[in-house]
Amino acid sequence: MHRLSMIIIALVGCLSVTGATEFNCKRGTGYPKEVCYVAECTDAIKAHIQHEFNAAFKYMYMGAYFGQDIVDRPGLSKFLLEAASEERGHAIQMLDYLNLRGIKIDSSLDYKFDPDTMLGTTYSYQDALEEALNMEIEVTDLINNVVAKCADDYHGADVFTNPILDEQHEGVRKLQGAVKAFKDLLAGSGAPGLQLAEYLFDKKMMSEEL
Ligand SMILES: [Fe+2]
Repeated sequence: MHRLSMIIIALVGCLSVTGATEFNCKRGTGYPKEVCYVAECTDAIKAHIQHEFNAAFKYMYMGAYFGQDIVDRPGLSKFLLEAASEERGHAIQMLDYLNLRGIKIDSSLDYKFDPDTMLGTTYSYQDALEEALNMEIEVTDLINNVVAKCADDYHGADVFTNPILDEQHEGVRKLQGAVKAFKDLLAGSGAPGLQLAEYLFDKKMMSEEL
């Protein structure tokens, strides 16, 4: 290969490596100093927190729906309200992580309550389980996007892979099993046995056997 071509390729290679990391590692004299981070990663985390709040509100609505006296499925209600607390906990965990990395908590974190998450929707028991499963799969997909945005921010990618992505997969697996078990119970009792199937399944949800 021509020598000049080799030099140009080497230079382009060096530039692309430098451009890929783009760590913000300013070392000023003041304290606290900025911690090395990749803005694309921390921006993705900031944006993702809104999805955790949306999931928390939706779970809260669904939990309250199944807890009311005319529906009365306390096992599913408990599960959904606990899931709401978990999602809120995830948002706090991510805000804590931004703090750890020295990212400023300011008006750029413009989180809003989305009223669509609390629309007056009614759910069947199976619909609620499947809706929860779909929400978890959607959030898992969004977290994968955060990990991709953090590809050059090794610590951010690591934390969002484990424990966060790890917990998502566990949650999805648990819900996949719950949907399957509910369908099996319903298939065994037939449509006329729907109320009984829901009642029996709800007892299992209450005792956390699922
Ligand atoms: Fe979450």
